[in-house]
Amino acid sequence: MKIAIMGAMPEEVAPILESLDDVVEVNYAKNKYFKAKYKDIDVVVAYSKIGKVFSTLTASTMLQMFACDMLLFTGVAGAVNSKLQIGDLVVASKLAQHDLDITIFGHPHGYVPEGSVYVESDRDLTALSKIVASEMGIDVKEGIIATGDQFIASEERKGFIAETFKADALEMEGASVAVVCDALGVPFFILRSISDSADMDAGFNFEEFVESSAKVSAKFLMKMIDKLAGA
Ligand code: ADE
Repeated sequence: MKIAIMGAMPEEVAPILESLDDVVEVNYAKNKYFKAKYKDIDVVVAYSKIGKVFSTLTASTMLQMFACDMLLFTGVAGAVNSKLQIGDLVVASKLAQHDLDITIFGHPHGYVPEGSVYVESDRDLTALSKIVASEMGIDVKEGIIATGDQFIASEERKGFIAETFKADALEMEGASVAVVCDALGVPFFILRSISDSADMDAGFNFEEFVESSAKVSAKFLMKMIDKLAGA
């Protein structure tokens, strides 16, 4: 088994890299990939940079160039569901691109011909996350994640995303990573911890909480990897 572990920003993968052994940095396609060992498992870790284009490039590289056979994403998100608080964990049940819009031609938001509005996550990895959550005694919400190339800091845009996609959280990479994994037939898991509420305070809250929430997500992901390693 070779696991791809991805984030978008350095803060999101730094806590993961600290836990690994035999880390070797490989430079490829203007990005850094860290090949490493965790227990008996081979892993490749990278942060893509922010947004759908960079995350597509990184996910595709992880699977095709580094031959990973599973992809786990860790990072932060803005809350859409008002029950979600800063630091809460969300596991994507399915993901959609909220900024993909050819509605003028009669298609639904998030849809292009031969694609689909939502990409569904791997059920086994989601089930594993529930076991880990119950062992840790914490609540992890399974919900819909909406992705777009916009940092959302507006009640109006958040309301549109909530209504159109029934989203619980939003961010800027999950759906593009999901499209890559789905196309290549590789199981994936997208985990996010809330850093803000995508409202007028979002910029300020994001800066304050990105690091602590990224750590919450990375810590949970490492527990999942422990399980995958058979610990
Ligand atoms: N990631 C974390 N918070 C976000 C927000 N408000 N908009 C987009 N991506 C985010």
